[in-house]
This record gives sequence, C-alpha cells and structure tokens, in this order.
Amino acid sequence: MSNEAGFEQLAAWIRQRKTTKVFGMTEQPVQLSQEMAQLHDSAVRRAIAAAGPAPFHFARNIEGIAEPWRVTALWWEACRGLAAELPSLCPDLKPGNKLPAILSACGASVLVHWLPATADEIADAAKREETNFEHLAAASAYVQNFLLLLTAAGLESYWASANLLDSPPVKSRLGIPAGRKLLGAIMVGYPLEGTSALERAGGGNHTKRSPAEAWSRELSQLR
Ligand SMILES: Cc1cc2nc3c(=O)[nH]c(=O)nc-3n(C[C@H](O)[C@H](O)[C@H](O)COP(=O)(O)O)c2cc1C
Repeated sequence: MSNEAGFEQLAAWIRQRKTTKVFGMTEQPVQLSQEMAQLHDSAVRRAIAAAGPAPFHFARNIEGIAEPWRVTALWWEACRGLAAELPSLCPDLKPGNKLPAILSACGASVLVHWLPATADEIADAAKREETNFEHLAAASAYVQNFLLLLTAAGLESYWASANLLDSPPVKSRLGIPAGRKLLGAIMVGYPLEGTSALERAGGGNHTKRSPAEAWSRELSQLR
C-alpha cells in the first residue's frame, strides 16, 4: 500500500471509530454460541496484541514488564457473571446504573489499567506526578490503538470509565492488584443475531467536532 493509500485508510478508521453502547437485559442476558465467541474473541485477542506498540516514555518495569498498562479481557460469560455479582460487590450500585445492562449484552469487556508509581518508588511528589502523567498518557495511546483496531475488525466499541469496576471488591474478584488504576472498560459489541434489536446509544460528544483550525495553530518562524 502506498503511503497515500495507507494514510487515507488510517484516517478512514479514525473517522469511522465511534462509541456504541448496547444495553441488554440483566434478567435475559445475550447468549453466545461457542463458535461465535471463539471467532470474535480471537479478533479481540489480535487487537489487544496489535495495539501493543503504543508509545510510552518511562519503562514501568513491574515484574520485568516495561509497558505502563495492563489489559484484562473478560469474555462474555465472565461479563455476565460480573453483571450478576455487581449488586453484591458494589452495595452502592444505583438502580439506574447501566453497567449491568451493558455487561449483559457485550461480547467482551476489556479492562485497561495503568500503573501509577507509588511514593515508595518515587519519593519526590512533583516528579511522581510528572511520571504518572506520562504513564497515563501512554496507556491512553494504547486504548486508542485498540479502539481503532476493533473498528477495523468490524466490532463495536465503547470506552466506559466504569469507576465501579475500580472498587477494591471488584478488583479482588477479578484478581487485579490494588495498585492498578482503571483507565477504562472497553465494551466490545460482537455482530450477533438478535442483538440488533437491543437498545443502542452513541457517545454524547460524537458530533461535537470542530475543524482542526479551531484547536491547532502553526508557526512558520519565531518573530
Ligand atoms: C477517558 C474516556 C472515558 C469515557 N467514559 C465514558 C463513560 O463513562 N460513559 C459514556 O457514556 N461515555 C464515555 N466515554 C465515551 C465518550 O462519551 C465518547 O467518546 C464521546 O461522546 C465521543 O463520541 P465518539 O466516541 O462516538 O466519538 C469516555 C471516553 C473517554 C475518552
């Protein structure tokens, strides 16, 4: 592919990526056949790996791993299990909270955590804040790579803050170490029969896009 064609293709994926929230019914969650689950899980697994070459400034070096992010893929049955357990894991779950409905419909939920440096590791608070800012920025670059790859794979996605999933009881249930901070739960929608009838919503800011001139400027020379 020429540079021009590659550029246009990537720009097209960036334009096509959009938030799609799919709401299922907790009392009647979406079921997946083994065949469908395997097919689409494998696409998600490929996207998780292909997103890996995101930039990062500081090697985090936990357990010999440089990347400042960690990824936990919850496949559909784990999502349904979590939806069912959320009320007991999170007693402050509000009745209108949509997370159980979303976990009842998604094909997978991919949790991306970033790894803040602790005061034991970097005693100087200003230096620690500066470093953590960059760890978080790097993990965000990973997420955007991942979202674009999901788009290219024909899968729906939704970056949810899902703060409830950052609570100690949920982390403990999912085997996630306390020091990790949830950056997002990427809810992945699989193209499945029967899900097209489910309620869907887009991202509230999707159309609030300004031309590049509104948020960028150029300097040719310093005067
Ligand atoms: C860091 C981050 C956290 C987000 N968390 C939520 C969320 O908790 N709930 C939600 O409805 N959308 C969430 N979104 C998705 C945004 O609403 C969505 O990206 C925005 O409306 C633009 O729509 P688009 O993704 O379709 O372009 C989040 C996006 C980002 C970048």
